[in-house]
Amino acid sequence: MTDRSPLFCDTALAARIEAAETELIVATSRAALARTGTPGFVLPLAGGAATFAGAGSPYTKVVGLGFGGVPTEAELDELEDAYAAHDAPVQIELSHLGDPELPAVLTARGYRLEGYENVLGRALDGDHATDSDIPAPRGVEVRISPEAELDAWIAVVTEASLHQDAEGLPWHDEFPRQALEDAERDSAAAGLVRYSAYRDGVLAGGAEFRVTGGIAQFAGAATAVAHRRHGIQTALLIARLVDARAAGCDVAVIVTQPGSKSQQNAQRRGFDLLYTRATLVGRPRGHASPAASRSDRGHDVTIALHSGPREQLRPLFELAEDSATQLDAYLDDGDVLVARIGEKLAGHLQLVATGRPDEVELKNMAVDESLQGNGIGRRLVRAAVALAGTRGARRMIVATAAADIGNLRFYQRVGFRMRAVDREAFVPATGYPEEIVIDGIVLRDRVWLDLDL
Ligand SMILES: CC(C)(COP(=O)(O)OP(=O)(O)OC[C@H]1O[C@@H](n2cnc3c(N)ncnc32)[C@H](O)[C@@H]1OP(=O)(O)O)[C@@H](O)C(=O)NCCC(=O)NCCS
Repeated sequence: MTDRSPLFCDTALAARIEAAETELIVATSRAALARTGTPGFVLPLAGGAATFAGAGSPYTKVVGLGFGGVPTEAELDELEDAYAAHDAPVQIELSHLGDPELPAVLTARGYRLEGYENVLGRALDGDHATDSDIPAPRGVEVRISPEAELDAWIAVVTEASLHQDAEGLPWHDEFPRQALEDAERDSAAAGLVRYSAYRDGVLAGGAEFRVTGGIAQFAGAATAVAHRRHGIQTALLIARLVDARAAGCDVAVIVTQPGSKSQQNAQRRGFDLLYTRATLVGRPRGHASPAASRSDRGHDVTIALHSGPREQLRPLFELAEDSATQLDAYLDDGDVLVARIGEKLAGHLQLVATGRPDEVELKNMAVDESLQGNGIGRRLVRAAVALAGTRGARRMIVATAAADIGNLRFYQRVGFRMRAVDREAFVPATGYPEEIVIDGIVLRDRVWLDLDL
């Protein structure tokens, strides 16, 4: 290695690297969701992304924040509700070079700092030493791993990843075997290039590689325990550096556990510490912040999918349904989100299929009478929108009584638009009492509203 000055990371370079990371996490999360066929989400957020790729997936996180503006309180509410609907914490990986306002915004909402990871980079242009002339260690050969080797590659890399080097601080995240195997399968499906290192002809380690916007991301390097300290990781690094340069990248990036052997190896190969990512974790909850609506003040609202019998929710359903016959017919349908303050039930929202694949109906919702007017209804609708969006719905519809001016105001305040009217919908023939008067208006007609997702 010749004399050189370390790679300087300004916010522009950090923004490029975080954008590449966002693309990587979005691509791998989409692959995970396609593989499992289970609901999840990939949501753009202030230049970065929030993903739910499955409970316990390494790709379930919020990345790339801090370079495209600070998310608003409403966007953060929505984000937290989206994770809450999957009963998952929000994990944000935050570059220390991002917008300096963000840490204060997040800690004010109760996010806890739980760990760090280091982002290292190496310039591939200019007078930096080339690696192509550095011979691989004796007996070690690195090749791009063929498709046919995928299962063997995953087995070796997973086993190796489960046995982290004892040196350095432990990772914040430790994933079980199945989660690691799935993650590697998903990264392959997302187009990451796999490299295999063979020592004396035996598959001894592997690594991954992806190019985004001139940034070469080095990921997933792992060496089987029996083959460690024989230059495998160095050989994998050199091979990828050569290929990164050939692909026209100006910077190669690697993420390591702070103070680890991997970080030391990367620094020996000319990588410099560019910045640290903090891991901030929040359990979705209500919060009191200056920008929060009057609603959230003093309340600790959580929203989650309801599991278990619906009968216990009947009193809430009855607030929104005057016909017991109708309620019996649909009480158990679809999915129900429940809002709670601590353990106390505060409200609910039921989503049912309509027979159209891209459409979902908000069938019944209510907020406990003592808690109405505090924004809980709005948060339930937001969570429902996030959940329906992840299931492929493009439109949410809802029906309410034309006589109920309050409900019409509520639905329009949360984004619904008028769509159609059914005359004489609430009559004894459909299970409703003879004459109900709301706000001086006889209950007769039904109004349909819809919301594009
Ligand atoms: C409709 C209902 C779910 C709304 O829940 P909520 O938690 O009180 O609503 P929010 O506090 O989130 O209100 C969001 C907005 O709607 C407005 N709004 C809500 N209920 C309203 C009402 N009855 N009259 C006028 N505006 C109302 C709020 O003022 C707020 O507007 P703002 O943004 O201008 O401040 C709740 O009032 C309820 O449970 N009603 C009884 C059951 C029912 O009728 N369900 C609907 C069946 S179709």
